[in-house]
Amino acid sequence: MIRLDGVHVRHKARSGGVFRRDAVHALTDASLEVERGEIVGLVGESGCGKSTMARVLTGLQKPTEGTVAFHGKDLWEMSGTQRRDDFGSAVGVVFQDPSTALNPRLTVQQILRDPLDVHRRGTREAREARVEELLDLVGLPGHTLAALPGQLSGGQRQRVAIARALALEPELIVADEPTSALDVSVRAQVLNLLVDLRERLGLGMVFISHDIQTVRYLADRIAVLYLGRIVEEGRTADVAGAPSHPYTEALLSATPSLLETTERIVLTGPVPSATNPPAGCPFRTRCWKADDACATVFPVRTEGPDGHRWHCVHPQTPASPSGDPTPVPSARSTA
Ligand SMILES: Nc1ncnc2c1ncn2[C@@H]1O[C@H](COP(=O)(O)OP(=O)(O)OP(=O)(O)O)[C@@H](O)[C@H]1O
Ligand SMILES: [Mg+2]
Repeated sequence: MIRLDGVHVRHKARSGGVFRRDAVHALTDASLEVERGEIVGLVGESGCGKSTMARVLTGLQKPTEGTVAFHGKDLWEMSGTQRRDDFGSAVGVVFQDPSTALNPRLTVQQILRDPLDVHRRGTREAREARVEELLDLVGLPGHTLAALPGQLSGGQRQRVAIARALALEPELIVADEPTSALDVSVRAQVLNLLVDLRERLGLGMVFISHDIQTVRYLADRIAVLYLGRIVEEGRTADVAGAPSHPYTEALLSATPSLLETTERIVLTGPVPSATNPPAGCPFRTRCWKADDACATVFPVRTEGPDGHRWHCVHPQTPASPSGDPTPVPSARSTA
């Protein structure tokens, strides 16, 4: 459905003098594909380029280099009108914080009608019916239509944001940390709503989170980002069950699930600056396996079975995760 090929995004650094503006490497040589009805999870620490990727996927950010294709058509070779109208209605976005993403002066009804009005969908009656249908779809009661966002709970507001993203019947939803601003108690409900909507509407989804356990809960495939690079990608069972990249292993060990007995890997030192990323493997400054072989070039891609791929000179071997000499319990891959 959508495909990024060799995408780079470089920003001008916010700091720096008038004469020397450094480049921020927000995304480097990223390739990613999302198929119809598939949930792809994107995971990584703060600043690694997740939101940049979301902006590229939704056509809000033009890549500095590389291509974005939607059903085989290059997004940035379309006319601006075509990109906004055809692509814009095929892709919905849900942001992290529903209290800033929704206009506080509009009622829920106006918020949900707005995209239908802008894209001139159907008659007045049809739009009104669609608004009610949307409300129902995200499990909100009818009386919320008259409410302002400020009168709703955080979880309800995020449901409104999801309903708005669904208004034009998109094929793809990009959800950028949609649950991180919510109370722990309502997070699971919103996640389950997304999973349920995918089932019912056959939506494709890119789900972004810094928490690999959340991503693994709902994604079919996972891509792990580090300092603007996709360092590992594959089916959820492979990436989360038998990670090859040490960084993925470290992410998993930071929030272990109950079934796993991995030793906690504590990463020391800061994430290097995106203005001046290290040569070679970007993770080498924090990696316990790094040596001279990691210092010169970004590791080439290694392909495993079922589209599992990684960029690492010293990958984890499935038989000994985090250096543990005992064999992997089978629970790891079925968790
Ligand atoms: N408009 C901009 N101008 C300059 N630098 C930017 C701009 N937008 C993002 N960046 C930088 O690009 C890098 C990636 O940012 P991005 O917002 O994509 O990260 P993120 O993974 O979404 O982080 P978070 O988890 O904190 O949301 C960061 O170093 C960020 O400071
Ligand atoms: Mg972000």
